[in-house]
Amino acid sequence: MDHFALRDGVMHAEDVPLPLIADAVGTPVYVYSRATLERHARVFREALADVPDKLIAFAVKSNPNLAVLKVLGAAGMGADVVSVGEMRRALAAGIAPEMIVFSGVGKTAAEMVAALEAGIGQFNIESEEEGVELAEIAAARGMTAQCTLRINPDVDAGTHDKISTGKADNKFGVPISEAGQIFGKLAGLPGVNLRGVAVHIGSQLADLAPLEVAFEKLGELMRALRGAGHEITHVDLGGGLGVPYMVGEVLPAPAEYGAMVARVTKDWGVKLIFEPGRVIAGNAGVLLTRVVRVKRGIKDPFVIVDAAMNDLARPALYGAYHHFEAVEPKGARMTANIVGPICETGDTFAMGRECDALAAGELAVFRTAGAYGATMASSYNSRGFVAEVLVDGDRFAVVADRIEAGAIMDAERVPEWLA
Ligand code: LLP
Repeated sequence: MDHFALRDGVMHAEDVPLPLIADAVGTPVYVYSRATLERHARVFREALADVPDKLIAFAVKSNPNLAVLKVLGAAGMGADVVSVGEMRRALAAGIAPEMIVFSGVGKTAAEMVAALEAGIGQFNIESEEEGVELAEIAAARGMTAQCTLRINPDVDAGTHDKISTGKADNKFGVPISEAGQIFGKLAGLPGVNLRGVAVHIGSQLADLAPLEVAFEKLGELMRALRGAGHEITHVDLGGGLGVPYMVGEVLPAPAEYGAMVARVTKDWGVKLIFEPGRVIAGNAGVLLTRVVRVKRGIKDPFVIVDAAMNDLARPALYGAYHHFEAVEPKGARMTANIVGPICETGDTFAMGRECDALAAGELAVFRTAGAYGATMASSYNSRGFVAEVLVDGDRFAVVADRIEAGAIMDAERVPEWLA
């Protein structure tokens, strides 16, 4: 459930009509709903009521906006980060360092130092090489990094290939077949306290079965590690729960996920860490855009909007579906190709889509844009970076300024020898 709905024929975010935001801030603009973010955080936590000891760490990569992190931090969430940039955002939003988990296959030495100095709660080590390096860096400072070892369970998550992370040939984690041996080696090093294992098999999962298989494999590994004398106190189950993008699409509810987790892990005797991203932020945001013009096509007309693949990359990157609808629908429908202004055919949001009839100058939204939306924006075609707005009841605020193309150009230099 979200808080974007028609009222008197005009789409609102909570109590704010979207045309008001378009007039004040311009388009394209991402609009987030605080009540929706809070609701999703609450629903996810309630779904895990039967898990006694847990940390829910929001996957910052899905929406790193400071105001969004502030809302989620206040709702009791920690943060899953994959760079020092994300770590600094989580800290700036007031999330306690102990509640920050650092994942990612390419942590640099400088990032490890910064995270150790910030006192973050956990490193998820992705390789033997990384573990050895982290141990050296921590030991040299007289510090101990709290760690889990990320396991690649070789499970097909059944999602888009580009967001699958748990198959044997993916770059993430250590092969489960070698996990015991690598764990043993790293656990013996000074500078690290290897206290558990981690897994994350992919994103936008539409089925709980692959997750359950991965968790069962992890449980088996955990028992084997304990059998070998290791103390296992923490297990990180990652994120990945999918959300509906299409009207009427049904995905496993957080409650079903929570029940499965509680069942599989009931005798594990560990603290569980969760890293949800999309399920918290996805439906808490829309991309508000204005129709530039409608161009006749050979078959269907092209609705050319002022948002483009640089603002919302998911359709171009993954062929992803984002529901598209008018802000002030009049009841008429059309079949259209929905495209942005960028000079490549990949800048297409949908072909042959049945949608509300739209004319030049009218406003529309792409739904489910709160996760992996603004954060994946670029300035391709010398377009600026899109603005972001947070709505709270009947008030709203710009939470990320639009960065104009001129400001980006101002950061460039022509060397003297070219002048
Ligand atoms: N934990 C780890 C280690 C991850 O790699 C990810 C996502 C998450 C948690 C959060 O997963 P979620 O709950 O959001 O599914 N840009 C793509 C999604 C990439 C996901 C990468 N990892 C998209 O737009 O679909």
